[in-house]
Amino acid sequence: MAQKLFHLSRDGVSLLIETTKGTPNVIHWGRELPAIDDPPQYLIAVTEPTPHGLFDESHRAGVWRENARAFLGQPALQGHRSGRAFSPKFELVSATRPSAHELLFVSRDDHAGLEVSLSYELTESGLIKIRSSVTNLGAPADQTDAGQATEDFTLNGLMAFLPLPDHATDILDFHGRWMRERQAQRTKISVGKHVRESHEGRSGHDYTIVQFATTDNASFQNGEVWGLSLAWSGNNVHTVEREMVGRTQIGAGELLLPGEVILAVGETYDAPTVIATYSNQGIDGASDRLHRFQRARAAHPTNIRPRPVSLNVWEAVYMNHDLAKLTALAEVAGRIGVERFVLDDGWFGARRDDTAGLGDWVVSAEVWPNGLKPLIDVVQANGMEFGLWFEAEMVNPNSDLYRAHPEWIMQADGRTPVEARWQQVLDLTHPGAYDHVLGQVDAILSEYDIAYIKWDHNRPITDAGHFDRAAVRAQTQAIYRLFDELKRRHPGLEIESCASGGGRIDLGMIDHADRFWASDNNDALERQQIYRNTSIAIAPELLGTHIGPTKAHSSGRTHSISFRAATAMWGHAGIEWDVTEASELELAQLAGFISFYKANRDLLHSGRVVRVDAIDENAWSHGVVAQDGSRAIFAYVQLRTAKQILPNAMRFAGLEAGATYRVTQVEPAGAPGKMQKFDSATWIHGVEVSGAWLMSAGLRTPILQPEQAMIFEAVRV
Ligand code: DGJ
Repeated sequence: MAQKLFHLSRDGVSLLIETTKGTPNVIHWGRELPAIDDPPQYLIAVTEPTPHGLFDESHRAGVWRENARAFLGQPALQGHRSGRAFSPKFELVSATRPSAHELLFVSRDDHAGLEVSLSYELTESGLIKIRSSVTNLGAPADQTDAGQATEDFTLNGLMAFLPLPDHATDILDFHGRWMRERQAQRTKISVGKHVRESHEGRSGHDYTIVQFATTDNASFQNGEVWGLSLAWSGNNVHTVEREMVGRTQIGAGELLLPGEVILAVGETYDAPTVIATYSNQGIDGASDRLHRFQRARAAHPTNIRPRPVSLNVWEAVYMNHDLAKLTALAEVAGRIGVERFVLDDGWFGARRDDTAGLGDWVVSAEVWPNGLKPLIDVVQANGMEFGLWFEAEMVNPNSDLYRAHPEWIMQADGRTPVEARWQQVLDLTHPGAYDHVLGQVDAILSEYDIAYIKWDHNRPITDAGHFDRAAVRAQTQAIYRLFDELKRRHPGLEIESCASGGGRIDLGMIDHADRFWASDNNDALERQQIYRNTSIAIAPELLGTHIGPTKAHSSGRTHSISFRAATAMWGHAGIEWDVTEASELELAQLAGFISFYKANRDLLHSGRVVRVDAIDENAWSHGVVAQDGSRAIFAYVQLRTAKQILPNAMRFAGLEAGATYRVTQVEPAGAPGKMQKFDSATWIHGVEVSGAWLMSAGLRTPILQPEQAMIFEAVRV
């Protein structure tokens, strides 16, 4: 190991790690550096002074943050062996480069009997995938009390951290709740720890998906941002911490419950992958890296087929399933161009309302006397594929399953957990429960021609015990395994991850599901914010976005189709409305929207997403620009009335500055309501100006009524 400095660089990002003190120590993560031909100079550059009042020489604890290396905070690995091995000190045993863009460091503490590894892989899109693990080697008996060599190691946590430069001043992360997921919150970095944790047993409505540290007031287009995401759908923790010595780090990891991971000798814990994204082009730059990373996966849905326009019947009929009504709905849906028809909750067991039936995944003979085939036939005859809802990690006490197997729920110490939506969580780590779910779901998928399932998870997990031992991790692995097995048995099957809306959206689930339901809130105004922030981390084509009813069920607000369509257009679009009640004009508008969407979804689902920085928070614009800059679609959204009579100019972003673009307004689903005397903003009928002009001066925005939006196409001429 003569080499002491390791450099990964790609796509504008560098990661620099030195190992002079016998442990890997990240000295730079950020802006790409030129090739390093004189490593000692960089080591000189990072040498810190030795202050009074601290240690006698300068220490950088490195990636493991051991207290034994003079780190005065939480070590990356925490745990113990019956109280011992609580303070390991890892010595590097190998540093290798498994590939041109990957580094692997293995370290060991022989006395503690632990081996740890960390690998950093810099992907083509400039993201770093960090994988860490710990193995219980068993402590050598001659170095310890008798018996320790064979003892289990109780792991309390294993997090990955990266250093932030001193000029990172702000934290941006996202919090939320049912109906209002992913609200942005900014705080200043100060001494101490800013921690976001989820104990819900799923990533959660409040899950940030990505936590950023940024330079002062970084915006969508400007500033530097450093973000971490966890590829995990269970309990999680994200932190930004400034130590009292002044160093700042960002970290993420799985949140382990007490005793959840106890490693026998020879066993290894592999932490969920942490994904690190850096950008010096603001939040949009980081977002673009995350999207490109998702799109580079072979199984990314748009690498397989275009995203079909969906109609979900939930808000149209709720649990009132009736073949005649659903047939009428399917006929209208087919007529306006819908490609997938989804039957939601209520088709199985005794599920006539939400107090019963979960657990019994058998078609209800009461509601569907001839099974689902008559409906599927109608759906297919109208040119659509069929999708079906499940929530099979759950059980209602009022179900045949619970009556037969009350012992199959997650619980601790013999208590029955509190109910939520009248349901308990099925313990999928119990082989009987897992086989029951797999068997029943598989039987439905085998009997019927089903292209897609929407998989719900409507309650947080409390008392997440398997035979009284914490099991969120095992439950999370079980649902991944179940999804993968269903897909293996039913090639082409798509799965949507839903959890009362956006309660399980994360970078772990992207490898097992194909779509996320972002929120139960179909109110277009509210959905603007939910979409804007969720799409920072998740590629738009993975986010379900539906045109809801005229009067939103969630809020009672009324919106035009034009505004609802201009809001639903940006994700994996669909409809969630009883379109049998729509007028002919409304149906024509929906059909117009669907045909525009179909014609443009290749761009919408492959381009660079931009959210334009604006100073009037009452309006915003955002768009998608083709990767080659040749065309773009933008929305100008009037959320509330503008501050002044004349709204600020609408600016664009992400265009080629030197190219000329022809910009025209399009009205795929009718005209937005305006508050001006006539079409004075003549450019909306077409104007040709440079990208530089559009991105700096912009165009004079028409005066829209609040809760209205306009759509623009820009084509390079
Ligand atoms: C919550 C989901 O988010 C809704 O879309 C719907 O599927 C209901 N559950 C059904 O119970």
